[in-house]
Amino acid sequence: MGFQLRQAMLCLALLAVICLAVVPAAAQFTSNSRMARPDVTLPLGPARGVILSSCTACHGIDEYGYYALDRQGWDEIIERMKTTSSGLAQGAVIADADKAILLDWLVEQFGPESTPFPREYVPRVLTEADYLIDEGAEAILAGTCEACHSLDRVQEARANEEQWRALVLAMIGRGAALPLSDVEPLVEWLARTRGTNPAN
Ligand code: HEC
Ligand code: HEC
Repeated sequence: MGFQLRQAMLCLALLAVICLAVVPAAAQFTSNSRMARPDVTLPLGPARGVILSSCTACHGIDEYGYYALDRQGWDEIIERMKTTSSGLAQGAVIADADKAILLDWLVEQFGPESTPFPREYVPRVLTEADYLIDEGAEAILAGTCEACHSLDRVQEARANEEQWRALVLAMIGRGAALPLSDVEPLVEWLARTRGTNPAN
């Protein structure tokens, strides 16, 4: 084989290696570039009525999860809502007593010591090695989730993959010591073993 030919073949081989390395990464990007969103549940306590009467005319409550503010920070947002109009309503209407109730809940849930839901979080694609068997998942649950509440909460919950992702990220926001690299494997396992039946 002549020197030039050998060089050409080496180049081709190199190109093939580069292609193999690059194409799956590009495919991952396009197939999985949807960002995750927070999923905030309406509280059952007194804040529920305030939210329903003063806050949901124009938009939902999931966005609250992006914030980690002290009382003054939340107060400023609510004050701004009073003068923010949308096509749906002319500014939020909220009495001072109701505002105090709402602030109590907001600071408890989304206070300065909480971690806001990561705005830029894009779920990574799992490889075969990431799939958890029950023992692996249960070890994670026992090690990180039981720090704050009994695992009954996890046993009883049923949710789809998107809801589990939002919930697990919210738990990290509350202080669960789960490395981000464990989020998607755990979410996949939770959705597989504690999922919802597809709607039909
Ligand atoms: C009259 C319509 C309306 C009502 C009622 C309303 N909002 Fe909003 N809200 C908006 C609009 C429009 C935006 C996006 C533009 C902006 O932030 O000014 C927004 C944005 C937000 C944001 C994102 C903050 C930001 O800086 O953009 C939060 C948090 C929020 N609202 C909370 C609330 C709460 C809590 C209430 C109840 C007290 C409420 N909203 C009631 C119209 C409303
Ligand atoms: C730092 C404390 C903390 C840790 C650690 C924690 N959680 Fe939670 N979790 C909470 C709190 C507080 C609530 C109650 C939230 C509420 O009622 O709004 C909760 C509620 C829940 C719920 C019930 C949600 C609902 O809407 O009923 C589930 C399910 C759950 N956690 C799963 C987990 C999982 C899975 C982990 C581990 C990845 C975890 N938690 C780790 C604090 C924690």
